[in-house]
Amino acid sequence: MNISVAIMAAGLGTRMKSSMPKVLHTISGFEMLYHIIKEAKCISDDVHVILFHQAELIKEKMSHYFNDVHFIIQDHQNFPGTGGAIMGVEPKYDKLLVLNGDMPLLQAKDMQNFTHFQAEIVMSAFTCKEPFGYGRVIMDSDNRVKKIIEEKDANALEKETKTVNAGVYLFQTSFLKENLPKLTNHNVQKEYYITDLVSLSNDVKAILVEEDTFMGVNSKYHLSIAETLLQERIKKNFMEKGVVMRLPQTIYIEADVVIEGECILENGVSLLKGTKLVNTHIKTNSVIEKSTIKNSSIGPMARVRPDSVIEDSHIGNFVEIKKSTLKGVKAGHLSYLGDACIDEGTNIGCGTITCNYDGKAKYQTIIGKNVFVGSDTQLVAPVTISDDVIIASGTTVTKNIPKGALAINREPLKIVENFFYKFFGSQK
Ligand code: UD1
Ligand code: MG
Repeated sequence: MNISVAIMAAGLGTRMKSSMPKVLHTISGFEMLYHIIKEAKCISDDVHVILFHQAELIKEKMSHYFNDVHFIIQDHQNFPGTGGAIMGVEPKYDKLLVLNGDMPLLQAKDMQNFTHFQAEIVMSAFTCKEPFGYGRVIMDSDNRVKKIIEEKDANALEKETKTVNAGVYLFQTSFLKENLPKLTNHNVQKEYYITDLVSLSNDVKAILVEEDTFMGVNSKYHLSIAETLLQERIKKNFMEKGVVMRLPQTIYIEADVVIEGECILENGVSLLKGTKLVNTHIKTNSVIEKSTIKNSSIGPMARVRPDSVIEDSHIGNFVEIKKSTLKGVKAGHLSYLGDACIDEGTNIGCGTITCNYDGKAKYQTIIGKNVFVGSDTQLVAPVTISDDVIIASGTTVTKNIPKGALAINREPLKIVENFFYKFFGSQK
């Protein structure tokens, strides 16, 4: 589409009360700025991001995801404020869509909607019960937008206005070129406001938008509201595709998670970044991170940590799995399986631990097919267990075990008759 986009992200974000820049706070696993750049790139090949405070940090984080956005440094010293922010933008196209960087719920379709209207400025507004903090949209008697007045500059009457500026604008580039130099900083904050451009035009179209989509995140309370709204959107989308969720309000799913086929998620499940589930049942209070799970059941209260691949397996309660590949495996209870590769038909007994770390480096445990690992086994890595092996309960495995063998390292059990009575006396 022939439209340029500018995302303003140079502000200090004072109200977040954080040393981290506002736009780097995350919702559903990703920075607010990531969400909005991703959507903007769906409608434009000319995306500008305006930075100032902690610009290098923001640039570095965003360049993990995007390599073709233009980062611009605002001349904040001389031109602070949202008007100052867009002064340095050189749009490639004759229309520039300007977005606040603190609007993580905005989607490409909402941005596209602005392009259906012809005007020097297409701005957006919504009506809300608590307008505090937003710029108020002041109309004339013909219902035309006269000006936008910021909270800090508004008089008592203006503050009563419930129609507020949503913070997204589509400008004709020629209008900006002509009018940006006319902005002044004659206001309480001594800033150049983008919102003052509205009173410099006789051709302003205001469109009504949804508060839930256009909300600006200015505080950590707002962040929590945006998180709830995005979670609702993500989960509704999956449920419509056939995923069963028990008590969905207790489930947390990050924005890039993929769920395919028939999956069931019980209450309290967390699916973190980089997770993919196919035909899988995740039971109560399990956490899955950056792992792929197919045709399996996991939990309750299991933790699958990054880089695990689990297929056709049953993982029970209090099992932790990290960077491991399991295919056709049963690990029903209380185990730690880290840096392991475990093959079909193998049963991992309760209390099995892969001792994968010697204090300096991590080592692999390889377990073949049809192995029976007895309860309370320690596998000291690096170690390889071949197919068809039985490991007796309570064994510490420190050597590779050949195919078909039994591994057992137990002290003989000693029984001392009547010891109890000798120790405590016969009264006890
Ligand atoms: C802004 C609008 C307000 C609107 C609200 C909607 C102005 C003056 N006010 O207020 O009318 O109701 O958004 O959410 O625009 N930024 C810069 N450079 C700066 C200052 C800010 O790039 O010098 C960026 C911020 O990083 C942020 C965005 O602009 O992403 C908006 O700034 P913010 O301080 O959140 O403005 P609001 O007070 O929310
Ligand atoms: Mg804001």
